[in-house]
Amino acid sequence: MTEQAWLPQGVDAHRPTDARVHDYALGGKDNYAIDRAYAHKLASLLPGSGRPIVENARFVRRAVRHLRALGVRQFLEIGSGLPRRGNVHEVAGPDATVVYVDYDPVAVSHFQAVLSANSSAAAIRGDATKPGTILADPVVTGMIDFDRPVALMMTYMLQLVSDADDPRRIVGEFREPLAAGSHLVLSHATLEMLSPAEIEAAGLAFEELREPVTLRGRAQVTELFDGFELLDPGVVAAPEWRPDRPYRDPTGWVLAGVGRKP
Ligand SMILES: C[S@@+](CC[C@H](N)C(=O)[O-])C[C@H]1O[C@@H](n2cnc3c(N)ncnc32)[C@H](O)[C@@H]1O
Repeated sequence: MTEQAWLPQGVDAHRPTDARVHDYALGGKDNYAIDRAYAHKLASLLPGSGRPIVENARFVRRAVRHLRALGVRQFLEIGSGLPRRGNVHEVAGPDATVVYVDYDPVAVSHFQAVLSANSSAAAIRGDATKPGTILADPVVTGMIDFDRPVALMMTYMLQLVSDADDPRRIVGEFREPLAAGSHLVLSHATLEMLSPAEIEAAGLAFEELREPVTLRGRAQVTELFDGFELLDPGVVAAPEWRPDRPYRDPTGWVLAGVGRKP
């Protein structure tokens, strides 16, 4: 049977999707031929283009461990992608509550399968550009207590949200109901630190993705933390955010930071 023959409703296998390309880069199996071909093309245009995905995944694990140490036990991940090694619920521990949200039906159904026997974590379909709908979802309101600190995770996903959809507005609407002591964990693709040739190659490659990519610089990413106090060391290349072991030089593709709602 071909991959096309068993696709669930709503799944587009004709264009690579970000969630499935990431899955492939992290060694997963939840991707299609079109995603693998795109990943290889990206790698030929931009050698090492799989590394930012790994840099981001490591940042997410360090940030979740840090918040766990601070006592945060509720995690709301927007744009969660496909299950991967070191999922938030695995790093956050069995006493944490985690809700994963993505608009990609493949990502959500795979998370739901992984979590079928887990009563403290769930995955729902939702569009980040409509925070009110996600915040009113019965799974979210039933599992997350907004009177206690929440970690709002928006990692490596806002580059898939255009300026027209206004990422600052989106983060602001999610921030609104959060209790003091809640945190925003955010990472974002940037080309600010790359050469003009790399930027041109990336621009060409991104045209193929189903979701348009909007790369933002450090100043724009820092603005997304409005209403949060940035933890040290601020918005930095992902590997430089509280590294816990020797690391390779950052690729310069991923900016990351964590902020606390006062
Ligand atoms: C690169 S993955 C990041 C996955 C994960 N957060 C991580 O840090 O590894 C980006 C995810 O954001 C999702 N996404 C993009 N735009 C979205 C939107 N408007 N609403 C919900 N999910 C979105 C994509 O479907 C994809 O799964």
